[in-house]
Amino acid sequence: MTQRALRVAIDGPGSSGKSSVGMTAAAELGYRYVDTGLLYRAVTWLALRRGVRLDDGPAVAALVPEVGLAADDEGRLSRVRVAGRDITRWVHGATVDRSVSEAARQPEVRDALVGVQRHLAAAGEIVLVGRDIGTVVLPDAEVKVYLDASVSERARRRALERGLDVDGPQAAEIRADLERRDAADAGRAVAPLRPASDAITLHTDGMAFGAVVDRVVDLVRTRAGATSGTPR
Ligand code: DC
Repeated sequence: MTQRALRVAIDGPGSSGKSSVGMTAAAELGYRYVDTGLLYRAVTWLALRRGVRLDDGPAVAALVPEVGLAADDEGRLSRVRVAGRDITRWVHGATVDRSVSEAARQPEVRDALVGVQRHLAAAGEIVLVGRDIGTVVLPDAEVKVYLDASVSERARRRALERGLDVDGPQAAEIRADLERRDAADAGRAVAPLRPASDAITLHTDGMAFGAVVDRVVDLVRTRAGATSGTPR
């Protein structure tokens, strides 16, 4: 594989900055960007809408072919569609936030979505952001990064993103929701959230956003230099 076809896996807990870091690093590298959480969110949204029980793995997995990612104006795969309709704004709502872990815990759902993600990554030159990219989806990804931050820092960032008072009651709810999802993501039997043994972990508390992006870009460029011209 030449230096133009690396696959970059960025995993980490909710609000660890994976999406914004992944998106910005991908733009700097000229790589495609995929937010894989959108797939889990869209399938959950569709199941709720159709009245499919989220603990019925095969029934939820059967909805996967109806969901597809689409490019935004910048060419990033950060939009999600069902039957040609863009549902991105709906999948970030509180109802999906509360329900997505249940769907994401079903092995049939994960298997179906792993296939979709591998297909997207096959051509390389891509940054995939998720929970199990380095461990399950692309265990042979050329670059693996695990972004971590304390729960208070992540809650603070999410509250600021939503224009909320970082010490207010809504921020406290955000923190409680993050803690609940961390426990669900890390505790599930299939593909639990954890760093791959060969991932570089970055603890981002106190690190400036630009410094995290620079570190990721450097890791990719170093790896690209090392693998340049080497067939895979
Ligand atoms: O990154 P996010 O908050 O949009 O992800 C939504 C949910 O989807 C999250 O609770 C865990 C799940 N998820 C997953 O299990 N594996 C992925 N690769 C991406 C997301």
